[in-house]
Amino acid sequence: MNSNQTHFGFKQVDREEKAGLVKEIFSGVAKKYDLMNDLMSGGIHRVWKNKMVEEIAVSRQSTVISRVIDLAGGTGDVAFRIAKKFRADGQNFLIDVVDINQEMLDVGKARAVDLNLFSDLKFTCCDGEKLCFADETFDFFTIAFGIRNFTNIDLALSEAYRVLKPNGKFICLEFSKVNDYFLQKIYDAYSFKIIPKIGEVILNDRASYQYLVESIRKFPPQNEFKKMIETAGFKNVSYKNLSFGAAAIHVGTKN
Ligand SMILES: C[S@@+](CC[C@H](N)C(=O)[O-])C[C@H]1O[C@@H](n2cnc3c(N)ncnc32)[C@H](O)[C@@H]1O
Repeated sequence: MNSNQTHFGFKQVDREEKAGLVKEIFSGVAKKYDLMNDLMSGGIHRVWKNKMVEEIAVSRQSTVISRVIDLAGGTGDVAFRIAKKFRADGQNFLIDVVDINQEMLDVGKARAVDLNLFSDLKFTCCDGEKLCFADETFDFFTIAFGIRNFTNIDLALSEAYRVLKPNGKFICLEFSKVNDYFLQKIYDAYSFKIIPKIGEVILNDRASYQYLVESIRKFPPQNEFKKMIETAGFKNVSYKNLSFGAAAIHVGTKN
């Protein structure tokens, strides 16, 4: 692969092409995105997202407003969980849900209205590789199942570092590498045989879900991704495996 190319699932494409191809995928699935997540994961994505939200420590000072950016926030699923946590603790907060895809954000906005969470969230369409926020704006940076779709992951990580305040926390939930040989075989069979089929039956869109499973396989394994986060400048970087490594939560702090 030459330096002007990158992967899009198992295909090689020009780097300038990838963001457009990813955008097409999420525009196509936006309206059924949440339903598809439940169907494909049997609801496990909810457990993983709740684990991610546990990484957010709520400030006990009632005067403090915690600022959160949920990048690649899509239909708001992670942001809603964070908002409910802050609300339950009676804390002040503001969450910016940021995504490159306006269709995904539009579904999120409608859901926020239904859940009566709209006033606590701001939805912004912007590229995570070139964030439209000032340096040192946020206390927490969350990103769930988003970063593997980016063209330049290193750039996204350095943007995360830039927009976090000193001591701010980076929290990333992403598919990762299953750490058991036999489970990996079962997971592969499920991923390549069943998931694209679900996409075909429910959305008449096999290709998007074929991309999903391929993009998961192309994403760096736990330790390699940890090093990338450290290279971006983060300290105390660690990760937790979920479901035998099918997903992992990486965290790091900005010193
Ligand atoms: C699999 S969805 C995850 C949505 C949400 N975080 C969740 O877990 O339900 C991936 C999201 O990443 C967004 N995305 C992809 N590339 C992006 C980029 N360069 N900047 C911002 N968002 C991006 C897509 O538009 C899509 O909404």
